[in-house]
Amino acid sequence: MDKSKIGLYYKNVMSDVIGSEHGITPNQWEELANQTSPIISMLNQERKAGKTPYRDLPFKTQIIQDVEDLASKYEDNCENLVILGIGGSALGNIALQTALNSYMYNFDEAQREGPRLFVFDNVDPQQFGSFLDWISDKLDKTVFNVISKSGRTSETAAQFMTICDMLSEILGPDNLRNHIVATTDAKSGTLRTIADELKLPHLEVPDGVGGRFSVLSAVGLFGAAMCGVDIDSLLEGARDMDVRVSNEKFAQNPAAINAAIQHHFYNRNKNISVMMPYCYALKDLCDWYRQIWAESLGKEFNLKGEKVYVGPTPVKALGTTDQHSQVQLYREGPNDKVFTFLQVNNFEKDVEIGPAPNCAPELGFLAEKSMSMLLNSEKAATEYALLLSQRPCMTVHFDKVDAYSVGQFIYLYEVTTSFAGALFGINTYDQPAVELGKEATFALMEKGGDCKALGMSYDKFAQEIKVKTEIDNNFLV
Ligand code: PA5
Repeated sequence: MDKSKIGLYYKNVMSDVIGSEHGITPNQWEELANQTSPIISMLNQERKAGKTPYRDLPFKTQIIQDVEDLASKYEDNCENLVILGIGGSALGNIALQTALNSYMYNFDEAQREGPRLFVFDNVDPQQFGSFLDWISDKLDKTVFNVISKSGRTSETAAQFMTICDMLSEILGPDNLRNHIVATTDAKSGTLRTIADELKLPHLEVPDGVGGRFSVLSAVGLFGAAMCGVDIDSLLEGARDMDVRVSNEKFAQNPAAINAAIQHHFYNRNKNISVMMPYCYALKDLCDWYRQIWAESLGKEFNLKGEKVYVGPTPVKALGTTDQHSQVQLYREGPNDKVFTFLQVNNFEKDVEIGPAPNCAPELGFLAEKSMSMLLNSEKAATEYALLLSQRPCMTVHFDKVDAYSVGQFIYLYEVTTSFAGALFGINTYDQPAVELGKEATFALMEKGGDCKALGMSYDKFAQEIKVKTEIDNNFLV
């Protein structure tokens, strides 16, 4: 394997390894390859026709320029960067930070190259209130990056309105533009209007790129650049993966193979996709994956308008932590899951385990070994145990976790999602079910006027919601 090139290992889904009742036989492999191969050309053509603009993000030098120019303005006077956003506007930022900066980044100045980073993707008053108490006397050295394509997402709007009020009160209204960066649609939307009105520095969520496919745009790159992540290498990794996932030969295309395996098992009643990283730094990439997989593939209708109710359920489990929580179920419970481990060969830091206490010579087998050896042995042990129970397993191998490999991983899973969506025959890029929840929140928060999507007033909509959700004490025990 080339240095730093990630690789998808899939032998352990085959019938040779786990038997034909649960594994893929050579005939089935041929079938799924034949089914998926035409999709490679189809996706390549769609991409050329500009239908999947996320595919071109790693090549957009203007985005990098804009992000770096703006980030450099805050180089000397920003100690805290606070990202306000939700879903695709937040998960990529969290994932990049956990993957590419040290565990103690926020706590230890020696371990960080940029400001402390906080990402708020919720409206829990206790959490947010406690943060506001802490940050209120540090506002002169704080930048808020509010990220929302639409600008009308209640959570982000509420956070934004709260911090605007606090900034205006403490630093004065004229200072808003020195402490807020807006990342939003280039032309339209509520946040665009506000950014123009307040003359806020701004970055773009590119046209035609949905939130969950936007991490390699300014949405993810600004926070990363501010916090010292090598965004050039991140995008180089994505570009190099682009070559691999565009390969018209099925056998050489990791995204096509990955999606074909997942789709095949879905149709054999293995509709849960567990991603299990054996590396803490990769754990939040699994949350990012959960969103792109669930929101893109969970659909009621197919492209022909037929009701299909499809979608594999993504699950995150952290190795080794969840060995002591989930693996009993994974081995002896229903054989309804496909496992993808994430494994790292070389950790940036390693730890030597201490000597065994004299009174416990039975712990000598661990003494003075590296912790990475223990972690990777536990991965192999868990995989072996699952294979004995005939559970299909894949592994994404990382030589090391760096911006280049993380860029490859993100792009691999974005394109895998496009392949899976095509195999399921659904629209990968919309999220109508999420939109309904957003509208329902507007109604319950007493927004006046009409809900156009439902053709009724928000008042009436709120009444309908209350009938369904108000507590009936007859059923409360
Ligand atoms: O992937 C998506 O499209 C969603 O998760 C959105 O990112 C999320 O709902 C936030 O939307 P917005 O950026 O408009 O605030």
